[in-house]
Amino acid sequence: MDEERLITPKEQNEDQVFDMTLRPKVLAEYIGQEQIKKNLEIFISAAKKRKEPIEHVLLYGCPGLGKTTLAHVISNEMGAQIRITSGPAIERAGDLAAILTNLGEGDILFIDEIHRLNKVIEEVLYPAMEEYALDLVIGKGPGARTVRLDLPRFTIIGATTKVSMISSPLRDRFGATYHLNFYEDADIGKIINRSAKILNIKIDNGAVELLASRARKTPRVANRILKRVRDYAEVKANGIITMELAEVALKNLGVDQFGLDQIDRRILESIIKKFQGGPVGLNTLSAATGEEQATIEEVYEPYLLQLGFINRTPRGRVATETAYKHLGIDIPKNLQEKLV
Ligand SMILES: Nc1ncnc2c1ncn2[C@@H]1O[C@H](COP(=O)(O)OP(=O)(O)OP(=O)(O)O)[C@@H](O)[C@H]1O
Ligand SMILES: [Mg+2]
Repeated sequence: MDEERLITPKEQNEDQVFDMTLRPKVLAEYIGQEQIKKNLEIFISAAKKRKEPIEHVLLYGCPGLGKTTLAHVISNEMGAQIRITSGPAIERAGDLAAILTNLGEGDILFIDEIHRLNKVIEEVLYPAMEEYALDLVIGKGPGARTVRLDLPRFTIIGATTKVSMISSPLRDRFGATYHLNFYEDADIGKIINRSAKILNIKIDNGAVELLASRARKTPRVANRILKRVRDYAEVKANGIITMELAEVALKNLGVDQFGLDQIDRRILESIIKKFQGGPVGLNTLSAATGEEQATIEEVYEPYLLQLGFINRTPRGRVATETAYKHLGIDIPKNLQEKLV
């Protein structure tokens, strides 16, 4: 079902080609996340001055906010080679050993979904990150011995959407950790303008603003919406995206004024109508809406929380007054005081 979703921040196949052309290459092109950029600039130039690789970096934040992009930007700024792998791709210690021994001095190893590394691998990683050493066990049983291999000085950039799932010993080995937040609408507007220029799309300012307000504060969603609305403009009009056209296109695509689609609305409606506004556990909500628990947690919920449409309580999710208003549902009397 996720396949056809317009507003999912999760990467879809269609994004991959598109991502290559639209991905900023250097810090100056990377829009928004000002605090992170400021810190990174210092971090990077200090390392360059010392002629050392940068310390290991952990990037975390919701899908589509620019973690992979930032990893590439860092490697470009460092003039370093980047090798790419992911937590689930490294199954055995030998896999990791093969990757590490092939690194060159100053290389960056990007580990996506680093929260999915298994324990055994993590333990091989600790000395590698700390001392640039790889401890290999040779042989089995009583005759087994450990050999230590020196590794070149390299940098790991880890990315994750679930920082809470990273063990604290692993987290402690990163010299810098950056949390990517949702973007300001104005920054999303800049991203839309930049992408429109690269893709040769004609779009007026009103339309940029409108699309920006519906893009879930997420660059990937902004780029995808731009592309879909462009298709619409080409088929239904002269290819130019005006505000009026954008409005109609988004309506046809099922995106409402907050950037919510039918699944977001189904989740909210479910909390409100089936569970009297909550609290309701993620499990139950998943069963009631037919959406996977992990998808609700990683894809829908963060934005609904950001909008203030739901709250998380120890007993589960509750709908807020804003959610009732947005769906045009009257707040029941017994809830009125509780919600205000
Ligand atoms: N700061 C930014 N400025 C301009 N464009 C951006 C920025 N961040 C992300 N993008 C655009 O959004 C797309 C998605 O970003 P990216 O793939 O880096 O997200 P991600 O955080 O790695 O997502 P996931 O968690 O799914 O891996 C990129 O291809 C890029 O075009
Ligand atoms: Mg990514």
